[in-house]
Amino acid sequence: MEALKNHPLLEGKVQVSSRIRELAPYDPVSSLDAIKSRPGMVHYKLDWNETTVPPSPRVKKRLVEYLQNGYKLHWYPEMNNRQLFEKIAGYVGCRPSQVLVTNGSDEALELLCQCYLEDGYNVVSPVPTYNHFLHFARRTGATVKEVRGANPFLPSLKEIARAIDGNTKIVYLANPNNPTGNLYSPAEVLQLAIHHPQVLIVSDEAYYEFAGVSCAKLVEEVDNIVVTRSFSKCFVLAGLRIGYLVGSDSIITDMRRVHNPKSVNTMAQLAAVAALEDLPYYKSYIRSVKRGAALVQDFCRKRGIRCIPTYANFVLIQLDEPTRVAEMLAEQGVYVRDRSHQLPGIIRLGLGTEEQMAEVLQRFEQVLLKLRN
Ligand SMILES: Cc1ncc(COP(=O)(O)O)c(C=O)c1O
Repeated sequence: MEALKNHPLLEGKVQVSSRIRELAPYDPVSSLDAIKSRPGMVHYKLDWNETTVPPSPRVKKRLVEYLQNGYKLHWYPEMNNRQLFEKIAGYVGCRPSQVLVTNGSDEALELLCQCYLEDGYNVVSPVPTYNHFLHFARRTGATVKEVRGANPFLPSLKEIARAIDGNTKIVYLANPNNPTGNLYSPAEVLQLAIHHPQVLIVSDEAYYEFAGVSCAKLVEEVDNIVVTRSFSKCFVLAGLRIGYLVGSDSIITDMRRVHNPKSVNTMAQLAAVAALEDLPYYKSYIRSVKRGAALVQDFCRKRGIRCIPTYANFVLIQLDEPTRVAEMLAEQGVYVRDRSHQLPGIIRLGLGTEEQMAEVLQRFEQVLLKLRN
């Protein structure tokens, strides 16, 4: 009994581990509450780089059929869904054994951190970038060496290479990057990997379908490149949570040590297969998003506003009063992300189809008029 006297549970106080106590909770900023509070309005949710159209009709049909015809929701999901692995491998141009399917690409990023990082090691990453990854990295006890180049829109892998030291385990490249939209070419990523064989180079390709450029083929050439991809962006399945990782056989073996094979639910697996069976639908959406981007650029150019195009499904707009404009747009039912704390004056505007962007720009015009008066 003496030994239990100071036990935290008996004091009614469970202690979190000291490493976790130092972390700030990840605080998501989302427009969903605002959207729910005005149900009658047409909203443009452009703050999380999601897609603005429904999934392919084939996806809907597959899910409805499954629910109508003797669904098996009482069973755990398939844990080695060959059809899914083969479809993804065919799409990427790799072997099914080089694929790990995960609960969103977030899970792939988290597992990479769990597998390769610990106290005393570090991650090198250009910033600003996708914060979630940096959070996953810090959670392991590793440190993050943030590389803030002279020009965040023209980052160089030379600056990244200079930051690598004997304790660097991972270089994280969101490719295209969120929020800058920068893209590193496979040739320069390969050079970095060849010169630093002890470092794992992570190419986070959540926006691959919009950029059309990938490092996935490099997985055949070197063991220290991995690619993560998502079904949340172009494939419209953010709510179902499914993504994947492409890596060498040895990386996949390492990842399987920590991966929970139940982490991807049945509906997500069905939807992903159906989505990959209807690529023309998504390609047509991408073309429309690019026309939408052109409309926004044209709108900004005519009004003397700086608009920075990106390789992803968003553009960056530089304004004198970014925070105020973001708030005023939200009042108009257009939700964007104020990024001015990282990139001076910048708001990030997600892109939808050209028809949707035409409507968004009308609302933007209203905001600009109000600002002038
Ligand atoms: C660069 C980047 N990587 C990964 C993700 C997360 O993707 P998923 O929904 O597949 O977890 C995001 C989401 O915004 C992102 O911007």
